[in-house]
Amino acid sequence: MDWNERYNNDDIPWDKGAGTPVLAELLRIVPQYFQSGINALVPGCGLGHDVKMIHEAGIKAIGLDVSETALKMAREAHPELGDVWLMDDLFKMQDQAETYDLVWEHTCYCAIPREMRNSYADIVFELLKPNAYFAGVFFTDTGQPPEEGPPFSTTRAEVFENFDRLFHLVWEGKPSQSYPGRENCEWVMVWRKPIHG
Ligand SMILES: C[S@@+](CC[C@H](N)C(=O)[O-])C[C@H]1O[C@@H](n2cnc3c(N)ncnc32)[C@H](O)[C@@H]1O
Repeated sequence: MDWNERYNNDDIPWDKGAGTPVLAELLRIVPQYFQSGINALVPGCGLGHDVKMIHEAGIKAIGLDVSETALKMAREAHPELGDVWLMDDLFKMQDQAETYDLVWEHTCYCAIPREMRNSYADIVFELLKPNAYFAGVFFTDTGQPPEEGPPFSTTRAEVFENFDRLFHLVWEGKPSQSYPGRENCEWVMVWRKPIHG
């Protein structure tokens, strides 16, 4: 998938013009995982609406994306955030090992083919500090067969299998708020990296 081309052609149906209501709900109901002052990473941030929402909660968040155009659009959409955008491939960020207190996942995992999802879990583990959190909303029903995508759907069981070998599951649940059209299609999980990885 040429993500930059999608942004260049304005072919970005996933962009809803605002951060996900799931994140807004989590900030309210489980604030212990989103404490102000921490360092967060938002992989596959697109136009950065979640990055903005996280900043508004007092958290310094870096928006990461492989697409130059997405980040240009993010910069233009949120000039008040300053230089918080990083163009890189998530799978090539080993030089930032143990940098982040939180990784927020929203529609990056579903952009990754199934055979690369173990590597996704590995790099997220590497990027987090010991005792830090990986919180994500996972697309469990994309309306397409799992082999078709992106978005590639997942299941609670698949996410569990990929992350349980590295992290401890500390919270999960079905969000009560979603973007219109995504109701009942999402599942939230929060994982903690052990102190001694
Ligand atoms: C489906 S879009 C979602 C964007 C944003 N999270 C949203 O909901 O609007 C997936 C995003 O992941 C980015 N992406 C895909 N593979 C990536 C990788 N290996 N490293 C960093 N970003 C990646 C794409 O460029 C795209 O912006």
